[in-house]
Amino acid sequence: MNEEDFFGLEREQKIRKSGVRSIYTPHQPIHSIKLFFGREALVKRLIEQINTPGQHALLYGDRGVGKSSLANVTAHLLLKNLIKGKLYTKRCDSQDSFETILAEPLKEVGIDLRVASETKSHKEGGSAGVQIPVIATGSITSYNENTFRLRSPGHRLSPSYAAEALKDLEGLIVIDESDAIRTAGDKRRLSEFIKLLSDGDCKLKVLMVGIAQTAEDLMEAHQSVQRCLKETKLERMSDNELRLIIEGGANKLKLLFQPDVVDAIIRMSWGYPHFTHLLALKCAEDAIAEGRQEITHANLQVAVRRAVEDAEETLRRTYADATRSSGTDMYRQILCGAASIEKEEFTAKELRNAVSKITQRKVQQTELNNYFQRLVSEKGATILKRITKGVYRFNDPRIPSFIRIANHQVWASASKPTEQ
Ligand SMILES: Nc1ncnc2c1ncn2[C@@H]1O[C@H](COP(=O)(O)OP(=O)(O)O)[C@@H](O)[C@H]1O
Ligand SMILES: [Mg+2]
Repeated sequence: MNEEDFFGLEREQKIRKSGVRSIYTPHQPIHSIKLFFGREALVKRLIEQINTPGQHALLYGDRGVGKSSLANVTAHLLLKNLIKGKLYTKRCDSQDSFETILAEPLKEVGIDLRVASETKSHKEGGSAGVQIPVIATGSITSYNENTFRLRSPGHRLSPSYAAEALKDLEGLIVIDESDAIRTAGDKRRLSEFIKLLSDGDCKLKVLMVGIAQTAEDLMEAHQSVQRCLKETKLERMSDNELRLIIEGGANKLKLLFQPDVVDAIIRMSWGYPHFTHLLALKCAEDAIAEGRQEITHANLQVAVRRAVEDAEETLRRTYADATRSSGTDMYRQILCGAASIEKEEFTAKELRNAVSKITQRKVQQTELNNYFQRLVSEKGATILKRITKGVYRFNDPRIPSFIRIANHQVWASASKPTEQ
């Protein structure tokens, strides 16, 4: 070992050579069908919808359930087998508008939707760039950059102008992270555009993807577009599908996760493929670095600690803020109880029973109430949300999985959550 190996370079070299970080990818959606597991029926359904004239598709669900991966694989299969033309993928952020979403396909038909930057000076000093879209059809010299006006068809891109311009284009537009589109006006124009594409029997297809509890949350003017925009809500993955992710990756890497390790990873992930990838990755990295093939329960215990450190900062902070206390362990125990209930919404009684199991003594409601002020609110930043009187859920649906991982001693070795 050379002196630079204080920095873990040898380990990183082995990990790099193995390709493990391209197989277990907790921080990236799947792009290759070879690494995509389960969900065959959903892929089939989306393909059927998008391959039907006049129909487009909307895919929504919680963060981290696998929406982008499903959209990527579906788009890839459609383009390879059924749809002519190009794939236009747009990942939206809060700066995107109807214009920027359609900029690329419009460019394809010769409409250059350029974004001019206007710099506004502020009294306090400094300047802020404000981006305003400008349509320039025809020659570049024919638009005046300083007016920031749309030459055609008026001041903003209208849905009918866009649909008309794109009516002969073939291809698929995937609009991912569409929950980030901020204004209702942009969402409404998008709905109207999809409806116009559908009415005009255009070959251009749209797959909208976003985080939402209901389709209405994602689409303005939802009623009018409903007929042509087929909705799919993506739920968590089943235990069997998570098993396929772990074992499929292990086969490629020639590693062997012992059966109880696979079960523990599935239990901790609780339907979220992100956590399955994260835990499997940490286990596999250690095995590769140490030249082992097998991953045992003891190896998992070590890997889990690194998984907690590597988890998303918001999850770690939410959990740390909720449980921080010098005097009592009850906040943590209450959350462990809540995370052990295998339901998205649970009653006060279910919570009491779950916490009693964790603490191994009977816990009364009056005792729980002492801690609720920090943990529960109707809306806002607490870890738990009160839905109606005596009914609760976690604000961020990924938190129960994180709690299971952070308290891995409870979940890693036993199927029933009892503190050891
Ligand atoms: N069908 C699948 N097979 C294997 N891994 C998946 C699958 N779906 C999602 N994943 C993994 O789960 C994590 C979250 O997926 P992603 O598609 O980014 O979710 P979302 O878009 O809903 O936030 C990523 O690590 C991704 O690699
Ligand atoms: Mg996504």
